[in-house]
Amino acid sequence: MAEKPSSPAKRDAPGAPRPPDGSQRRDFLTRLGAIVVGAVAGLVPLGAAAFTFFDPLRKKPPEKLPPEWIAVAAANQVPDDGFPRRFEVVADLWDQWTFIPQQPIGAVFLIRNKGESKPTAFNVTCPHLGCAVVLAPDQRSFKCPCHNSAFDLQGVTTPDSPSPRAMDELETRISQNGQIEVKYENYYAGIKDKLAKR
Ligand code: FES
Repeated sequence: MAEKPSSPAKRDAPGAPRPPDGSQRRDFLTRLGAIVVGAVAGLVPLGAAAFTFFDPLRKKPPEKLPPEWIAVAAANQVPDDGFPRRFEVVADLWDQWTFIPQQPIGAVFLIRNKGESKPTAFNVTCPHLGCAVVLAPDQRSFKCPCHNSAFDLQGVTTPDSPSPRAMDELETRISQNGQIEVKYENYYAGIKDKLAKR
């Protein structure tokens, strides 16, 4: 007996899985391509923005340069009377992100004795543990209020001072326009040797 062919209504029943034909495959590949292109187009500006944002992190920190000459006072602000005078040290600062002009970075005592053309300079930072040294009331010595280190006007410690060394002296010069310039440096505290923080 001849087999009865299946009816078309049974083959195309709603919800029945249909084998993929050529047009479905093309449709799928077109959509997949669009998704890939869209993702790439979105990632490129995102990557550029991230690169710009994090660019400073890739930069090497600035090389440590020798200390710079910094003008701290006019020459006539330090007469040759042997009395110490305190001046702020102000300089431009750079970090990897920003330029910060004219920031206070420390202070110095300047002393000019009779007949001297340029003053002696001391960093005010105490070599014991880094407090700020002040001028004694008689203006003839320095003292540190933190642990009572005391220094004479040459910066030398008194015998009972806990400071392991004398005050840190800095180089000075007079510029052509009459400014007292200091080669400003900070030094490690708490050690006998005068070791620059560079
Ligand atoms: S920090 Fe100056 S005496 Fe200690």
